[in-house]
Amino acid sequence: MNSSLCRRLGIRFPLFAFSHCRDVIAEVSRAGGFGVLGIVGHTPESVKIELDWLDARVGDAPYGVDLLVPGKLDAKEGGLSPAEIEARIPPEHRRHVERILRDHGIDTAGLWDAGIDANHGDNLRESGARAVLAEALRHERVRLVVNALGVPPPFMMAMARERGVMVGALTGAREHAIKHAQAGVDLLVAAGGEAGGHCGDVATMVLVPEVIEAVKPWPGTFVLGAGGIVTGRQMAACMAMGADGVWCGSVWLTTREAETNPVVKQKMLAADSRQTVRSRSRTGKYTRQLRSPWTDAWQAPGAPDPLPMPLQGLVSEPALARIDKLSQAGDPGAQALATYWVGQGVGLMNQPLGARQVVQDFMEDFASACERLAAFGE
Ligand SMILES: Cc1cc2nc3c(=O)[nH]c(=O)nc-3n(C[C@H](O)[C@H](O)[C@H](O)COP(=O)(O)O)c2cc1C
Repeated sequence: MNSSLCRRLGIRFPLFAFSHCRDVIAEVSRAGGFGVLGIVGHTPESVKIELDWLDARVGDAPYGVDLLVPGKLDAKEGGLSPAEIEARIPPEHRRHVERILRDHGIDTAGLWDAGIDANHGDNLRESGARAVLAEALRHERVRLVVNALGVPPPFMMAMARERGVMVGALTGAREHAIKHAQAGVDLLVAAGGEAGGHCGDVATMVLVPEVIEAVKPWPGTFVLGAGGIVTGRQMAACMAMGADGVWCGSVWLTTREAETNPVVKQKMLAADSRQTVRSRSRTGKYTRQLRSPWTDAWQAPGAPDPLPMPLQGLVSEPALARIDKLSQAGDPGAQALATYWVGQGVGLMNQPLGARQVVQDFMEDFASACERLAAFGE
């Protein structure tokens, strides 16, 4: 495709794939799209391993990395001891989690034994994110750095600029778009409320043209549509509205390469678009995920209000890890509770395809949609 974004990044097709799975990134970048690896959960050492692996497979193709440094965070400056973090978690939240597990026949013994890692949430702050990013930027094929929540902080902008790497930001509302453009962000991912993971509440169909209009005073700012997009016809619709491409996260979760819990994968393949929910029960901020008795229990009358990020993760993740493990071992209570982030496009994700095939299908469906539109003008 002859577009200025494709030329700038050296790609053939402006389909951006967000994934935590390096195999997905390699397949998409090799197929002409652009893979973006989520590295918030990594250390500099593990990022090196992942990106060395990618560098050995993508050839000349570019790829990107994604970090999550929110504008607002409980104890943003970090440096709290495990005891201080512990003191911020009301006992009621842990009791609620234990009740959910017990109600589904799951033993809660030892649930909190791992304790609190003194470095918990470090990558969400400059201290941790800077080191991880420095390692990522040593890899030449990294051509884009994206921040998930809020304006990319000055250290991120400066480090990327120094290497001539583009900076992107997830954008859930018009006012975010303006802040991002003012900060000099090159590429906005306008992610509607249909999206899996963290999301706002404005629909993609409304948000994409709203963001495009909002950033007109900053010419040269690229906009990708995101949220609920799992087909080439939806990509064509976004580009008909003026987007430079699309960014997808959910569609890769049911691919053969994805490391999604197989129980959850089957649930996703069977789910329709109404079986997701926006809930603060996992991270403390709103994320869209597969609805299950776990998400229902956090919305039931009398349920505690989820804690702010990153504290809610300390309450939810040990339980969700146990649920994941037991569900794969065949435990029926855990299988019922099992959930993961996914967007409303899940209703159209009905077959476990390879990631390369997904890109191929996008290309064909996109071309057919363009032909349909062109025929209206004849
Ligand atoms: C499983 C999963 C994990 C996600 N984790 C992140 C993340 O770490 N950083 C980020 O920028 N976005 C993350 N997202 C959101 C995606 O970047 C993107 O906004 C979203 O997937 C787009 O909507 P879609 O899921 O309908 O394709 C995640 C999405 C999913 C489905």
